[in-house]
Amino acid sequence: NADYYEYFEEMHGILMYKIFVKYWDDVETFQARTDDIVIASYPKSGTTWVSEIIYMIYKEGDVEKCKEVAIFDRVPFLECRDYEDNMNGVKQLKEMASPRIVKTHLPPELLPASFWEKNCKIIYVCRNPKDIAVSYYYFFLMARGHPNPGSFPEFVEKFMHAQVPYGSWYKHVKSWWEKRTNPHVLILFYEDMKEDIRKEVMKLLQFLERKPSEELVDKIIQHTSFQEMKNNPYTNYTTLPEEIMNHKVSPFMRKGITGDWKNHFTVALNERFDKHYGQQMKESTLNLRTEI
Ligand code: PPS
Repeated sequence: NADYYEYFEEMHGILMYKIFVKYWDDVETFQARTDDIVIASYPKSGTTWVSEIIYMIYKEGDVEKCKEVAIFDRVPFLECRDYEDNMNGVKQLKEMASPRIVKTHLPPELLPASFWEKNCKIIYVCRNPKDIAVSYYYFFLMARGHPNPGSFPEFVEKFMHAQVPYGSWYKHVKSWWEKRTNPHVLILFYEDMKEDIRKEVMKLLQFLERKPSEELVDKIIQHTSFQEMKNNPYTNYTTLPEEIMNHKVSPFMRKGITGDWKNHFTVALNERFDKHYGQQMKESTLNLRTEI
């Protein structure tokens, strides 16, 4: 449907929101600072969760400091722009005091060169693509700037063929996976976080060279649980106007589980997806648990 592509445009080989493309020069020329931390992910992989954990680490577990402003003002979304110029990630970051925590959904090739040159610490989060497809589908329905995604099977088809913002999930994870040997890059999995959050928080603390106190870890786990973040207006995106995100259609903090794909994929669709997944990922050593 032609209407679908009114919102997006091909840019450096990926489909992207037209409004982001318009201001791409600002992103490309963005100047990193050595103490910037980058949280990178394909959309709907657990970015907000990891952002809140890292913010808690930075504020040494002071929950009050995490309730000064909303997550999108504490951890700005680098490439984000809108038509009214209310959202401008680059501007927010330029005006922000160090140390900054930066959210991005860019593949490594499109991350501003400055982050690589300055050896900034980067955390990449990935998630089972089946659950991402479900989460992305509801996000299309509730967040402004998205066309009608069609039926769920139609949307999965688009997802498999890179016809969604940020393009191919497969390419995204594969090229980030290639960065795993870079000592400044840490890769986390949503499924591991759901299974053993303590272990993943400890990994983050070590990566960020912070002291892992039991008390701090307990506070982080408590404050960043799904229920807590769903009820917290500073993390759940409900402070945005309804025209931007309509939580009545579907809340941003939707389910926060692994395996919701099983409620959305038919057996046939799952088989198609698995086959395509196998083809796309056959040359990669990345092992995502797509069956859970
Ligand atoms: S975005 O818009 O790309 O930044 O979205 P992102 O934050 O990456 O992904 C949103 C999904 O993450 C879930 N979420 C959580 N799961 C578990 N625990 C916590 N604390 C948590 N916070 C957010 C959120 O519910 C979205 O997943 P779905 O499957 O839609 O529920």
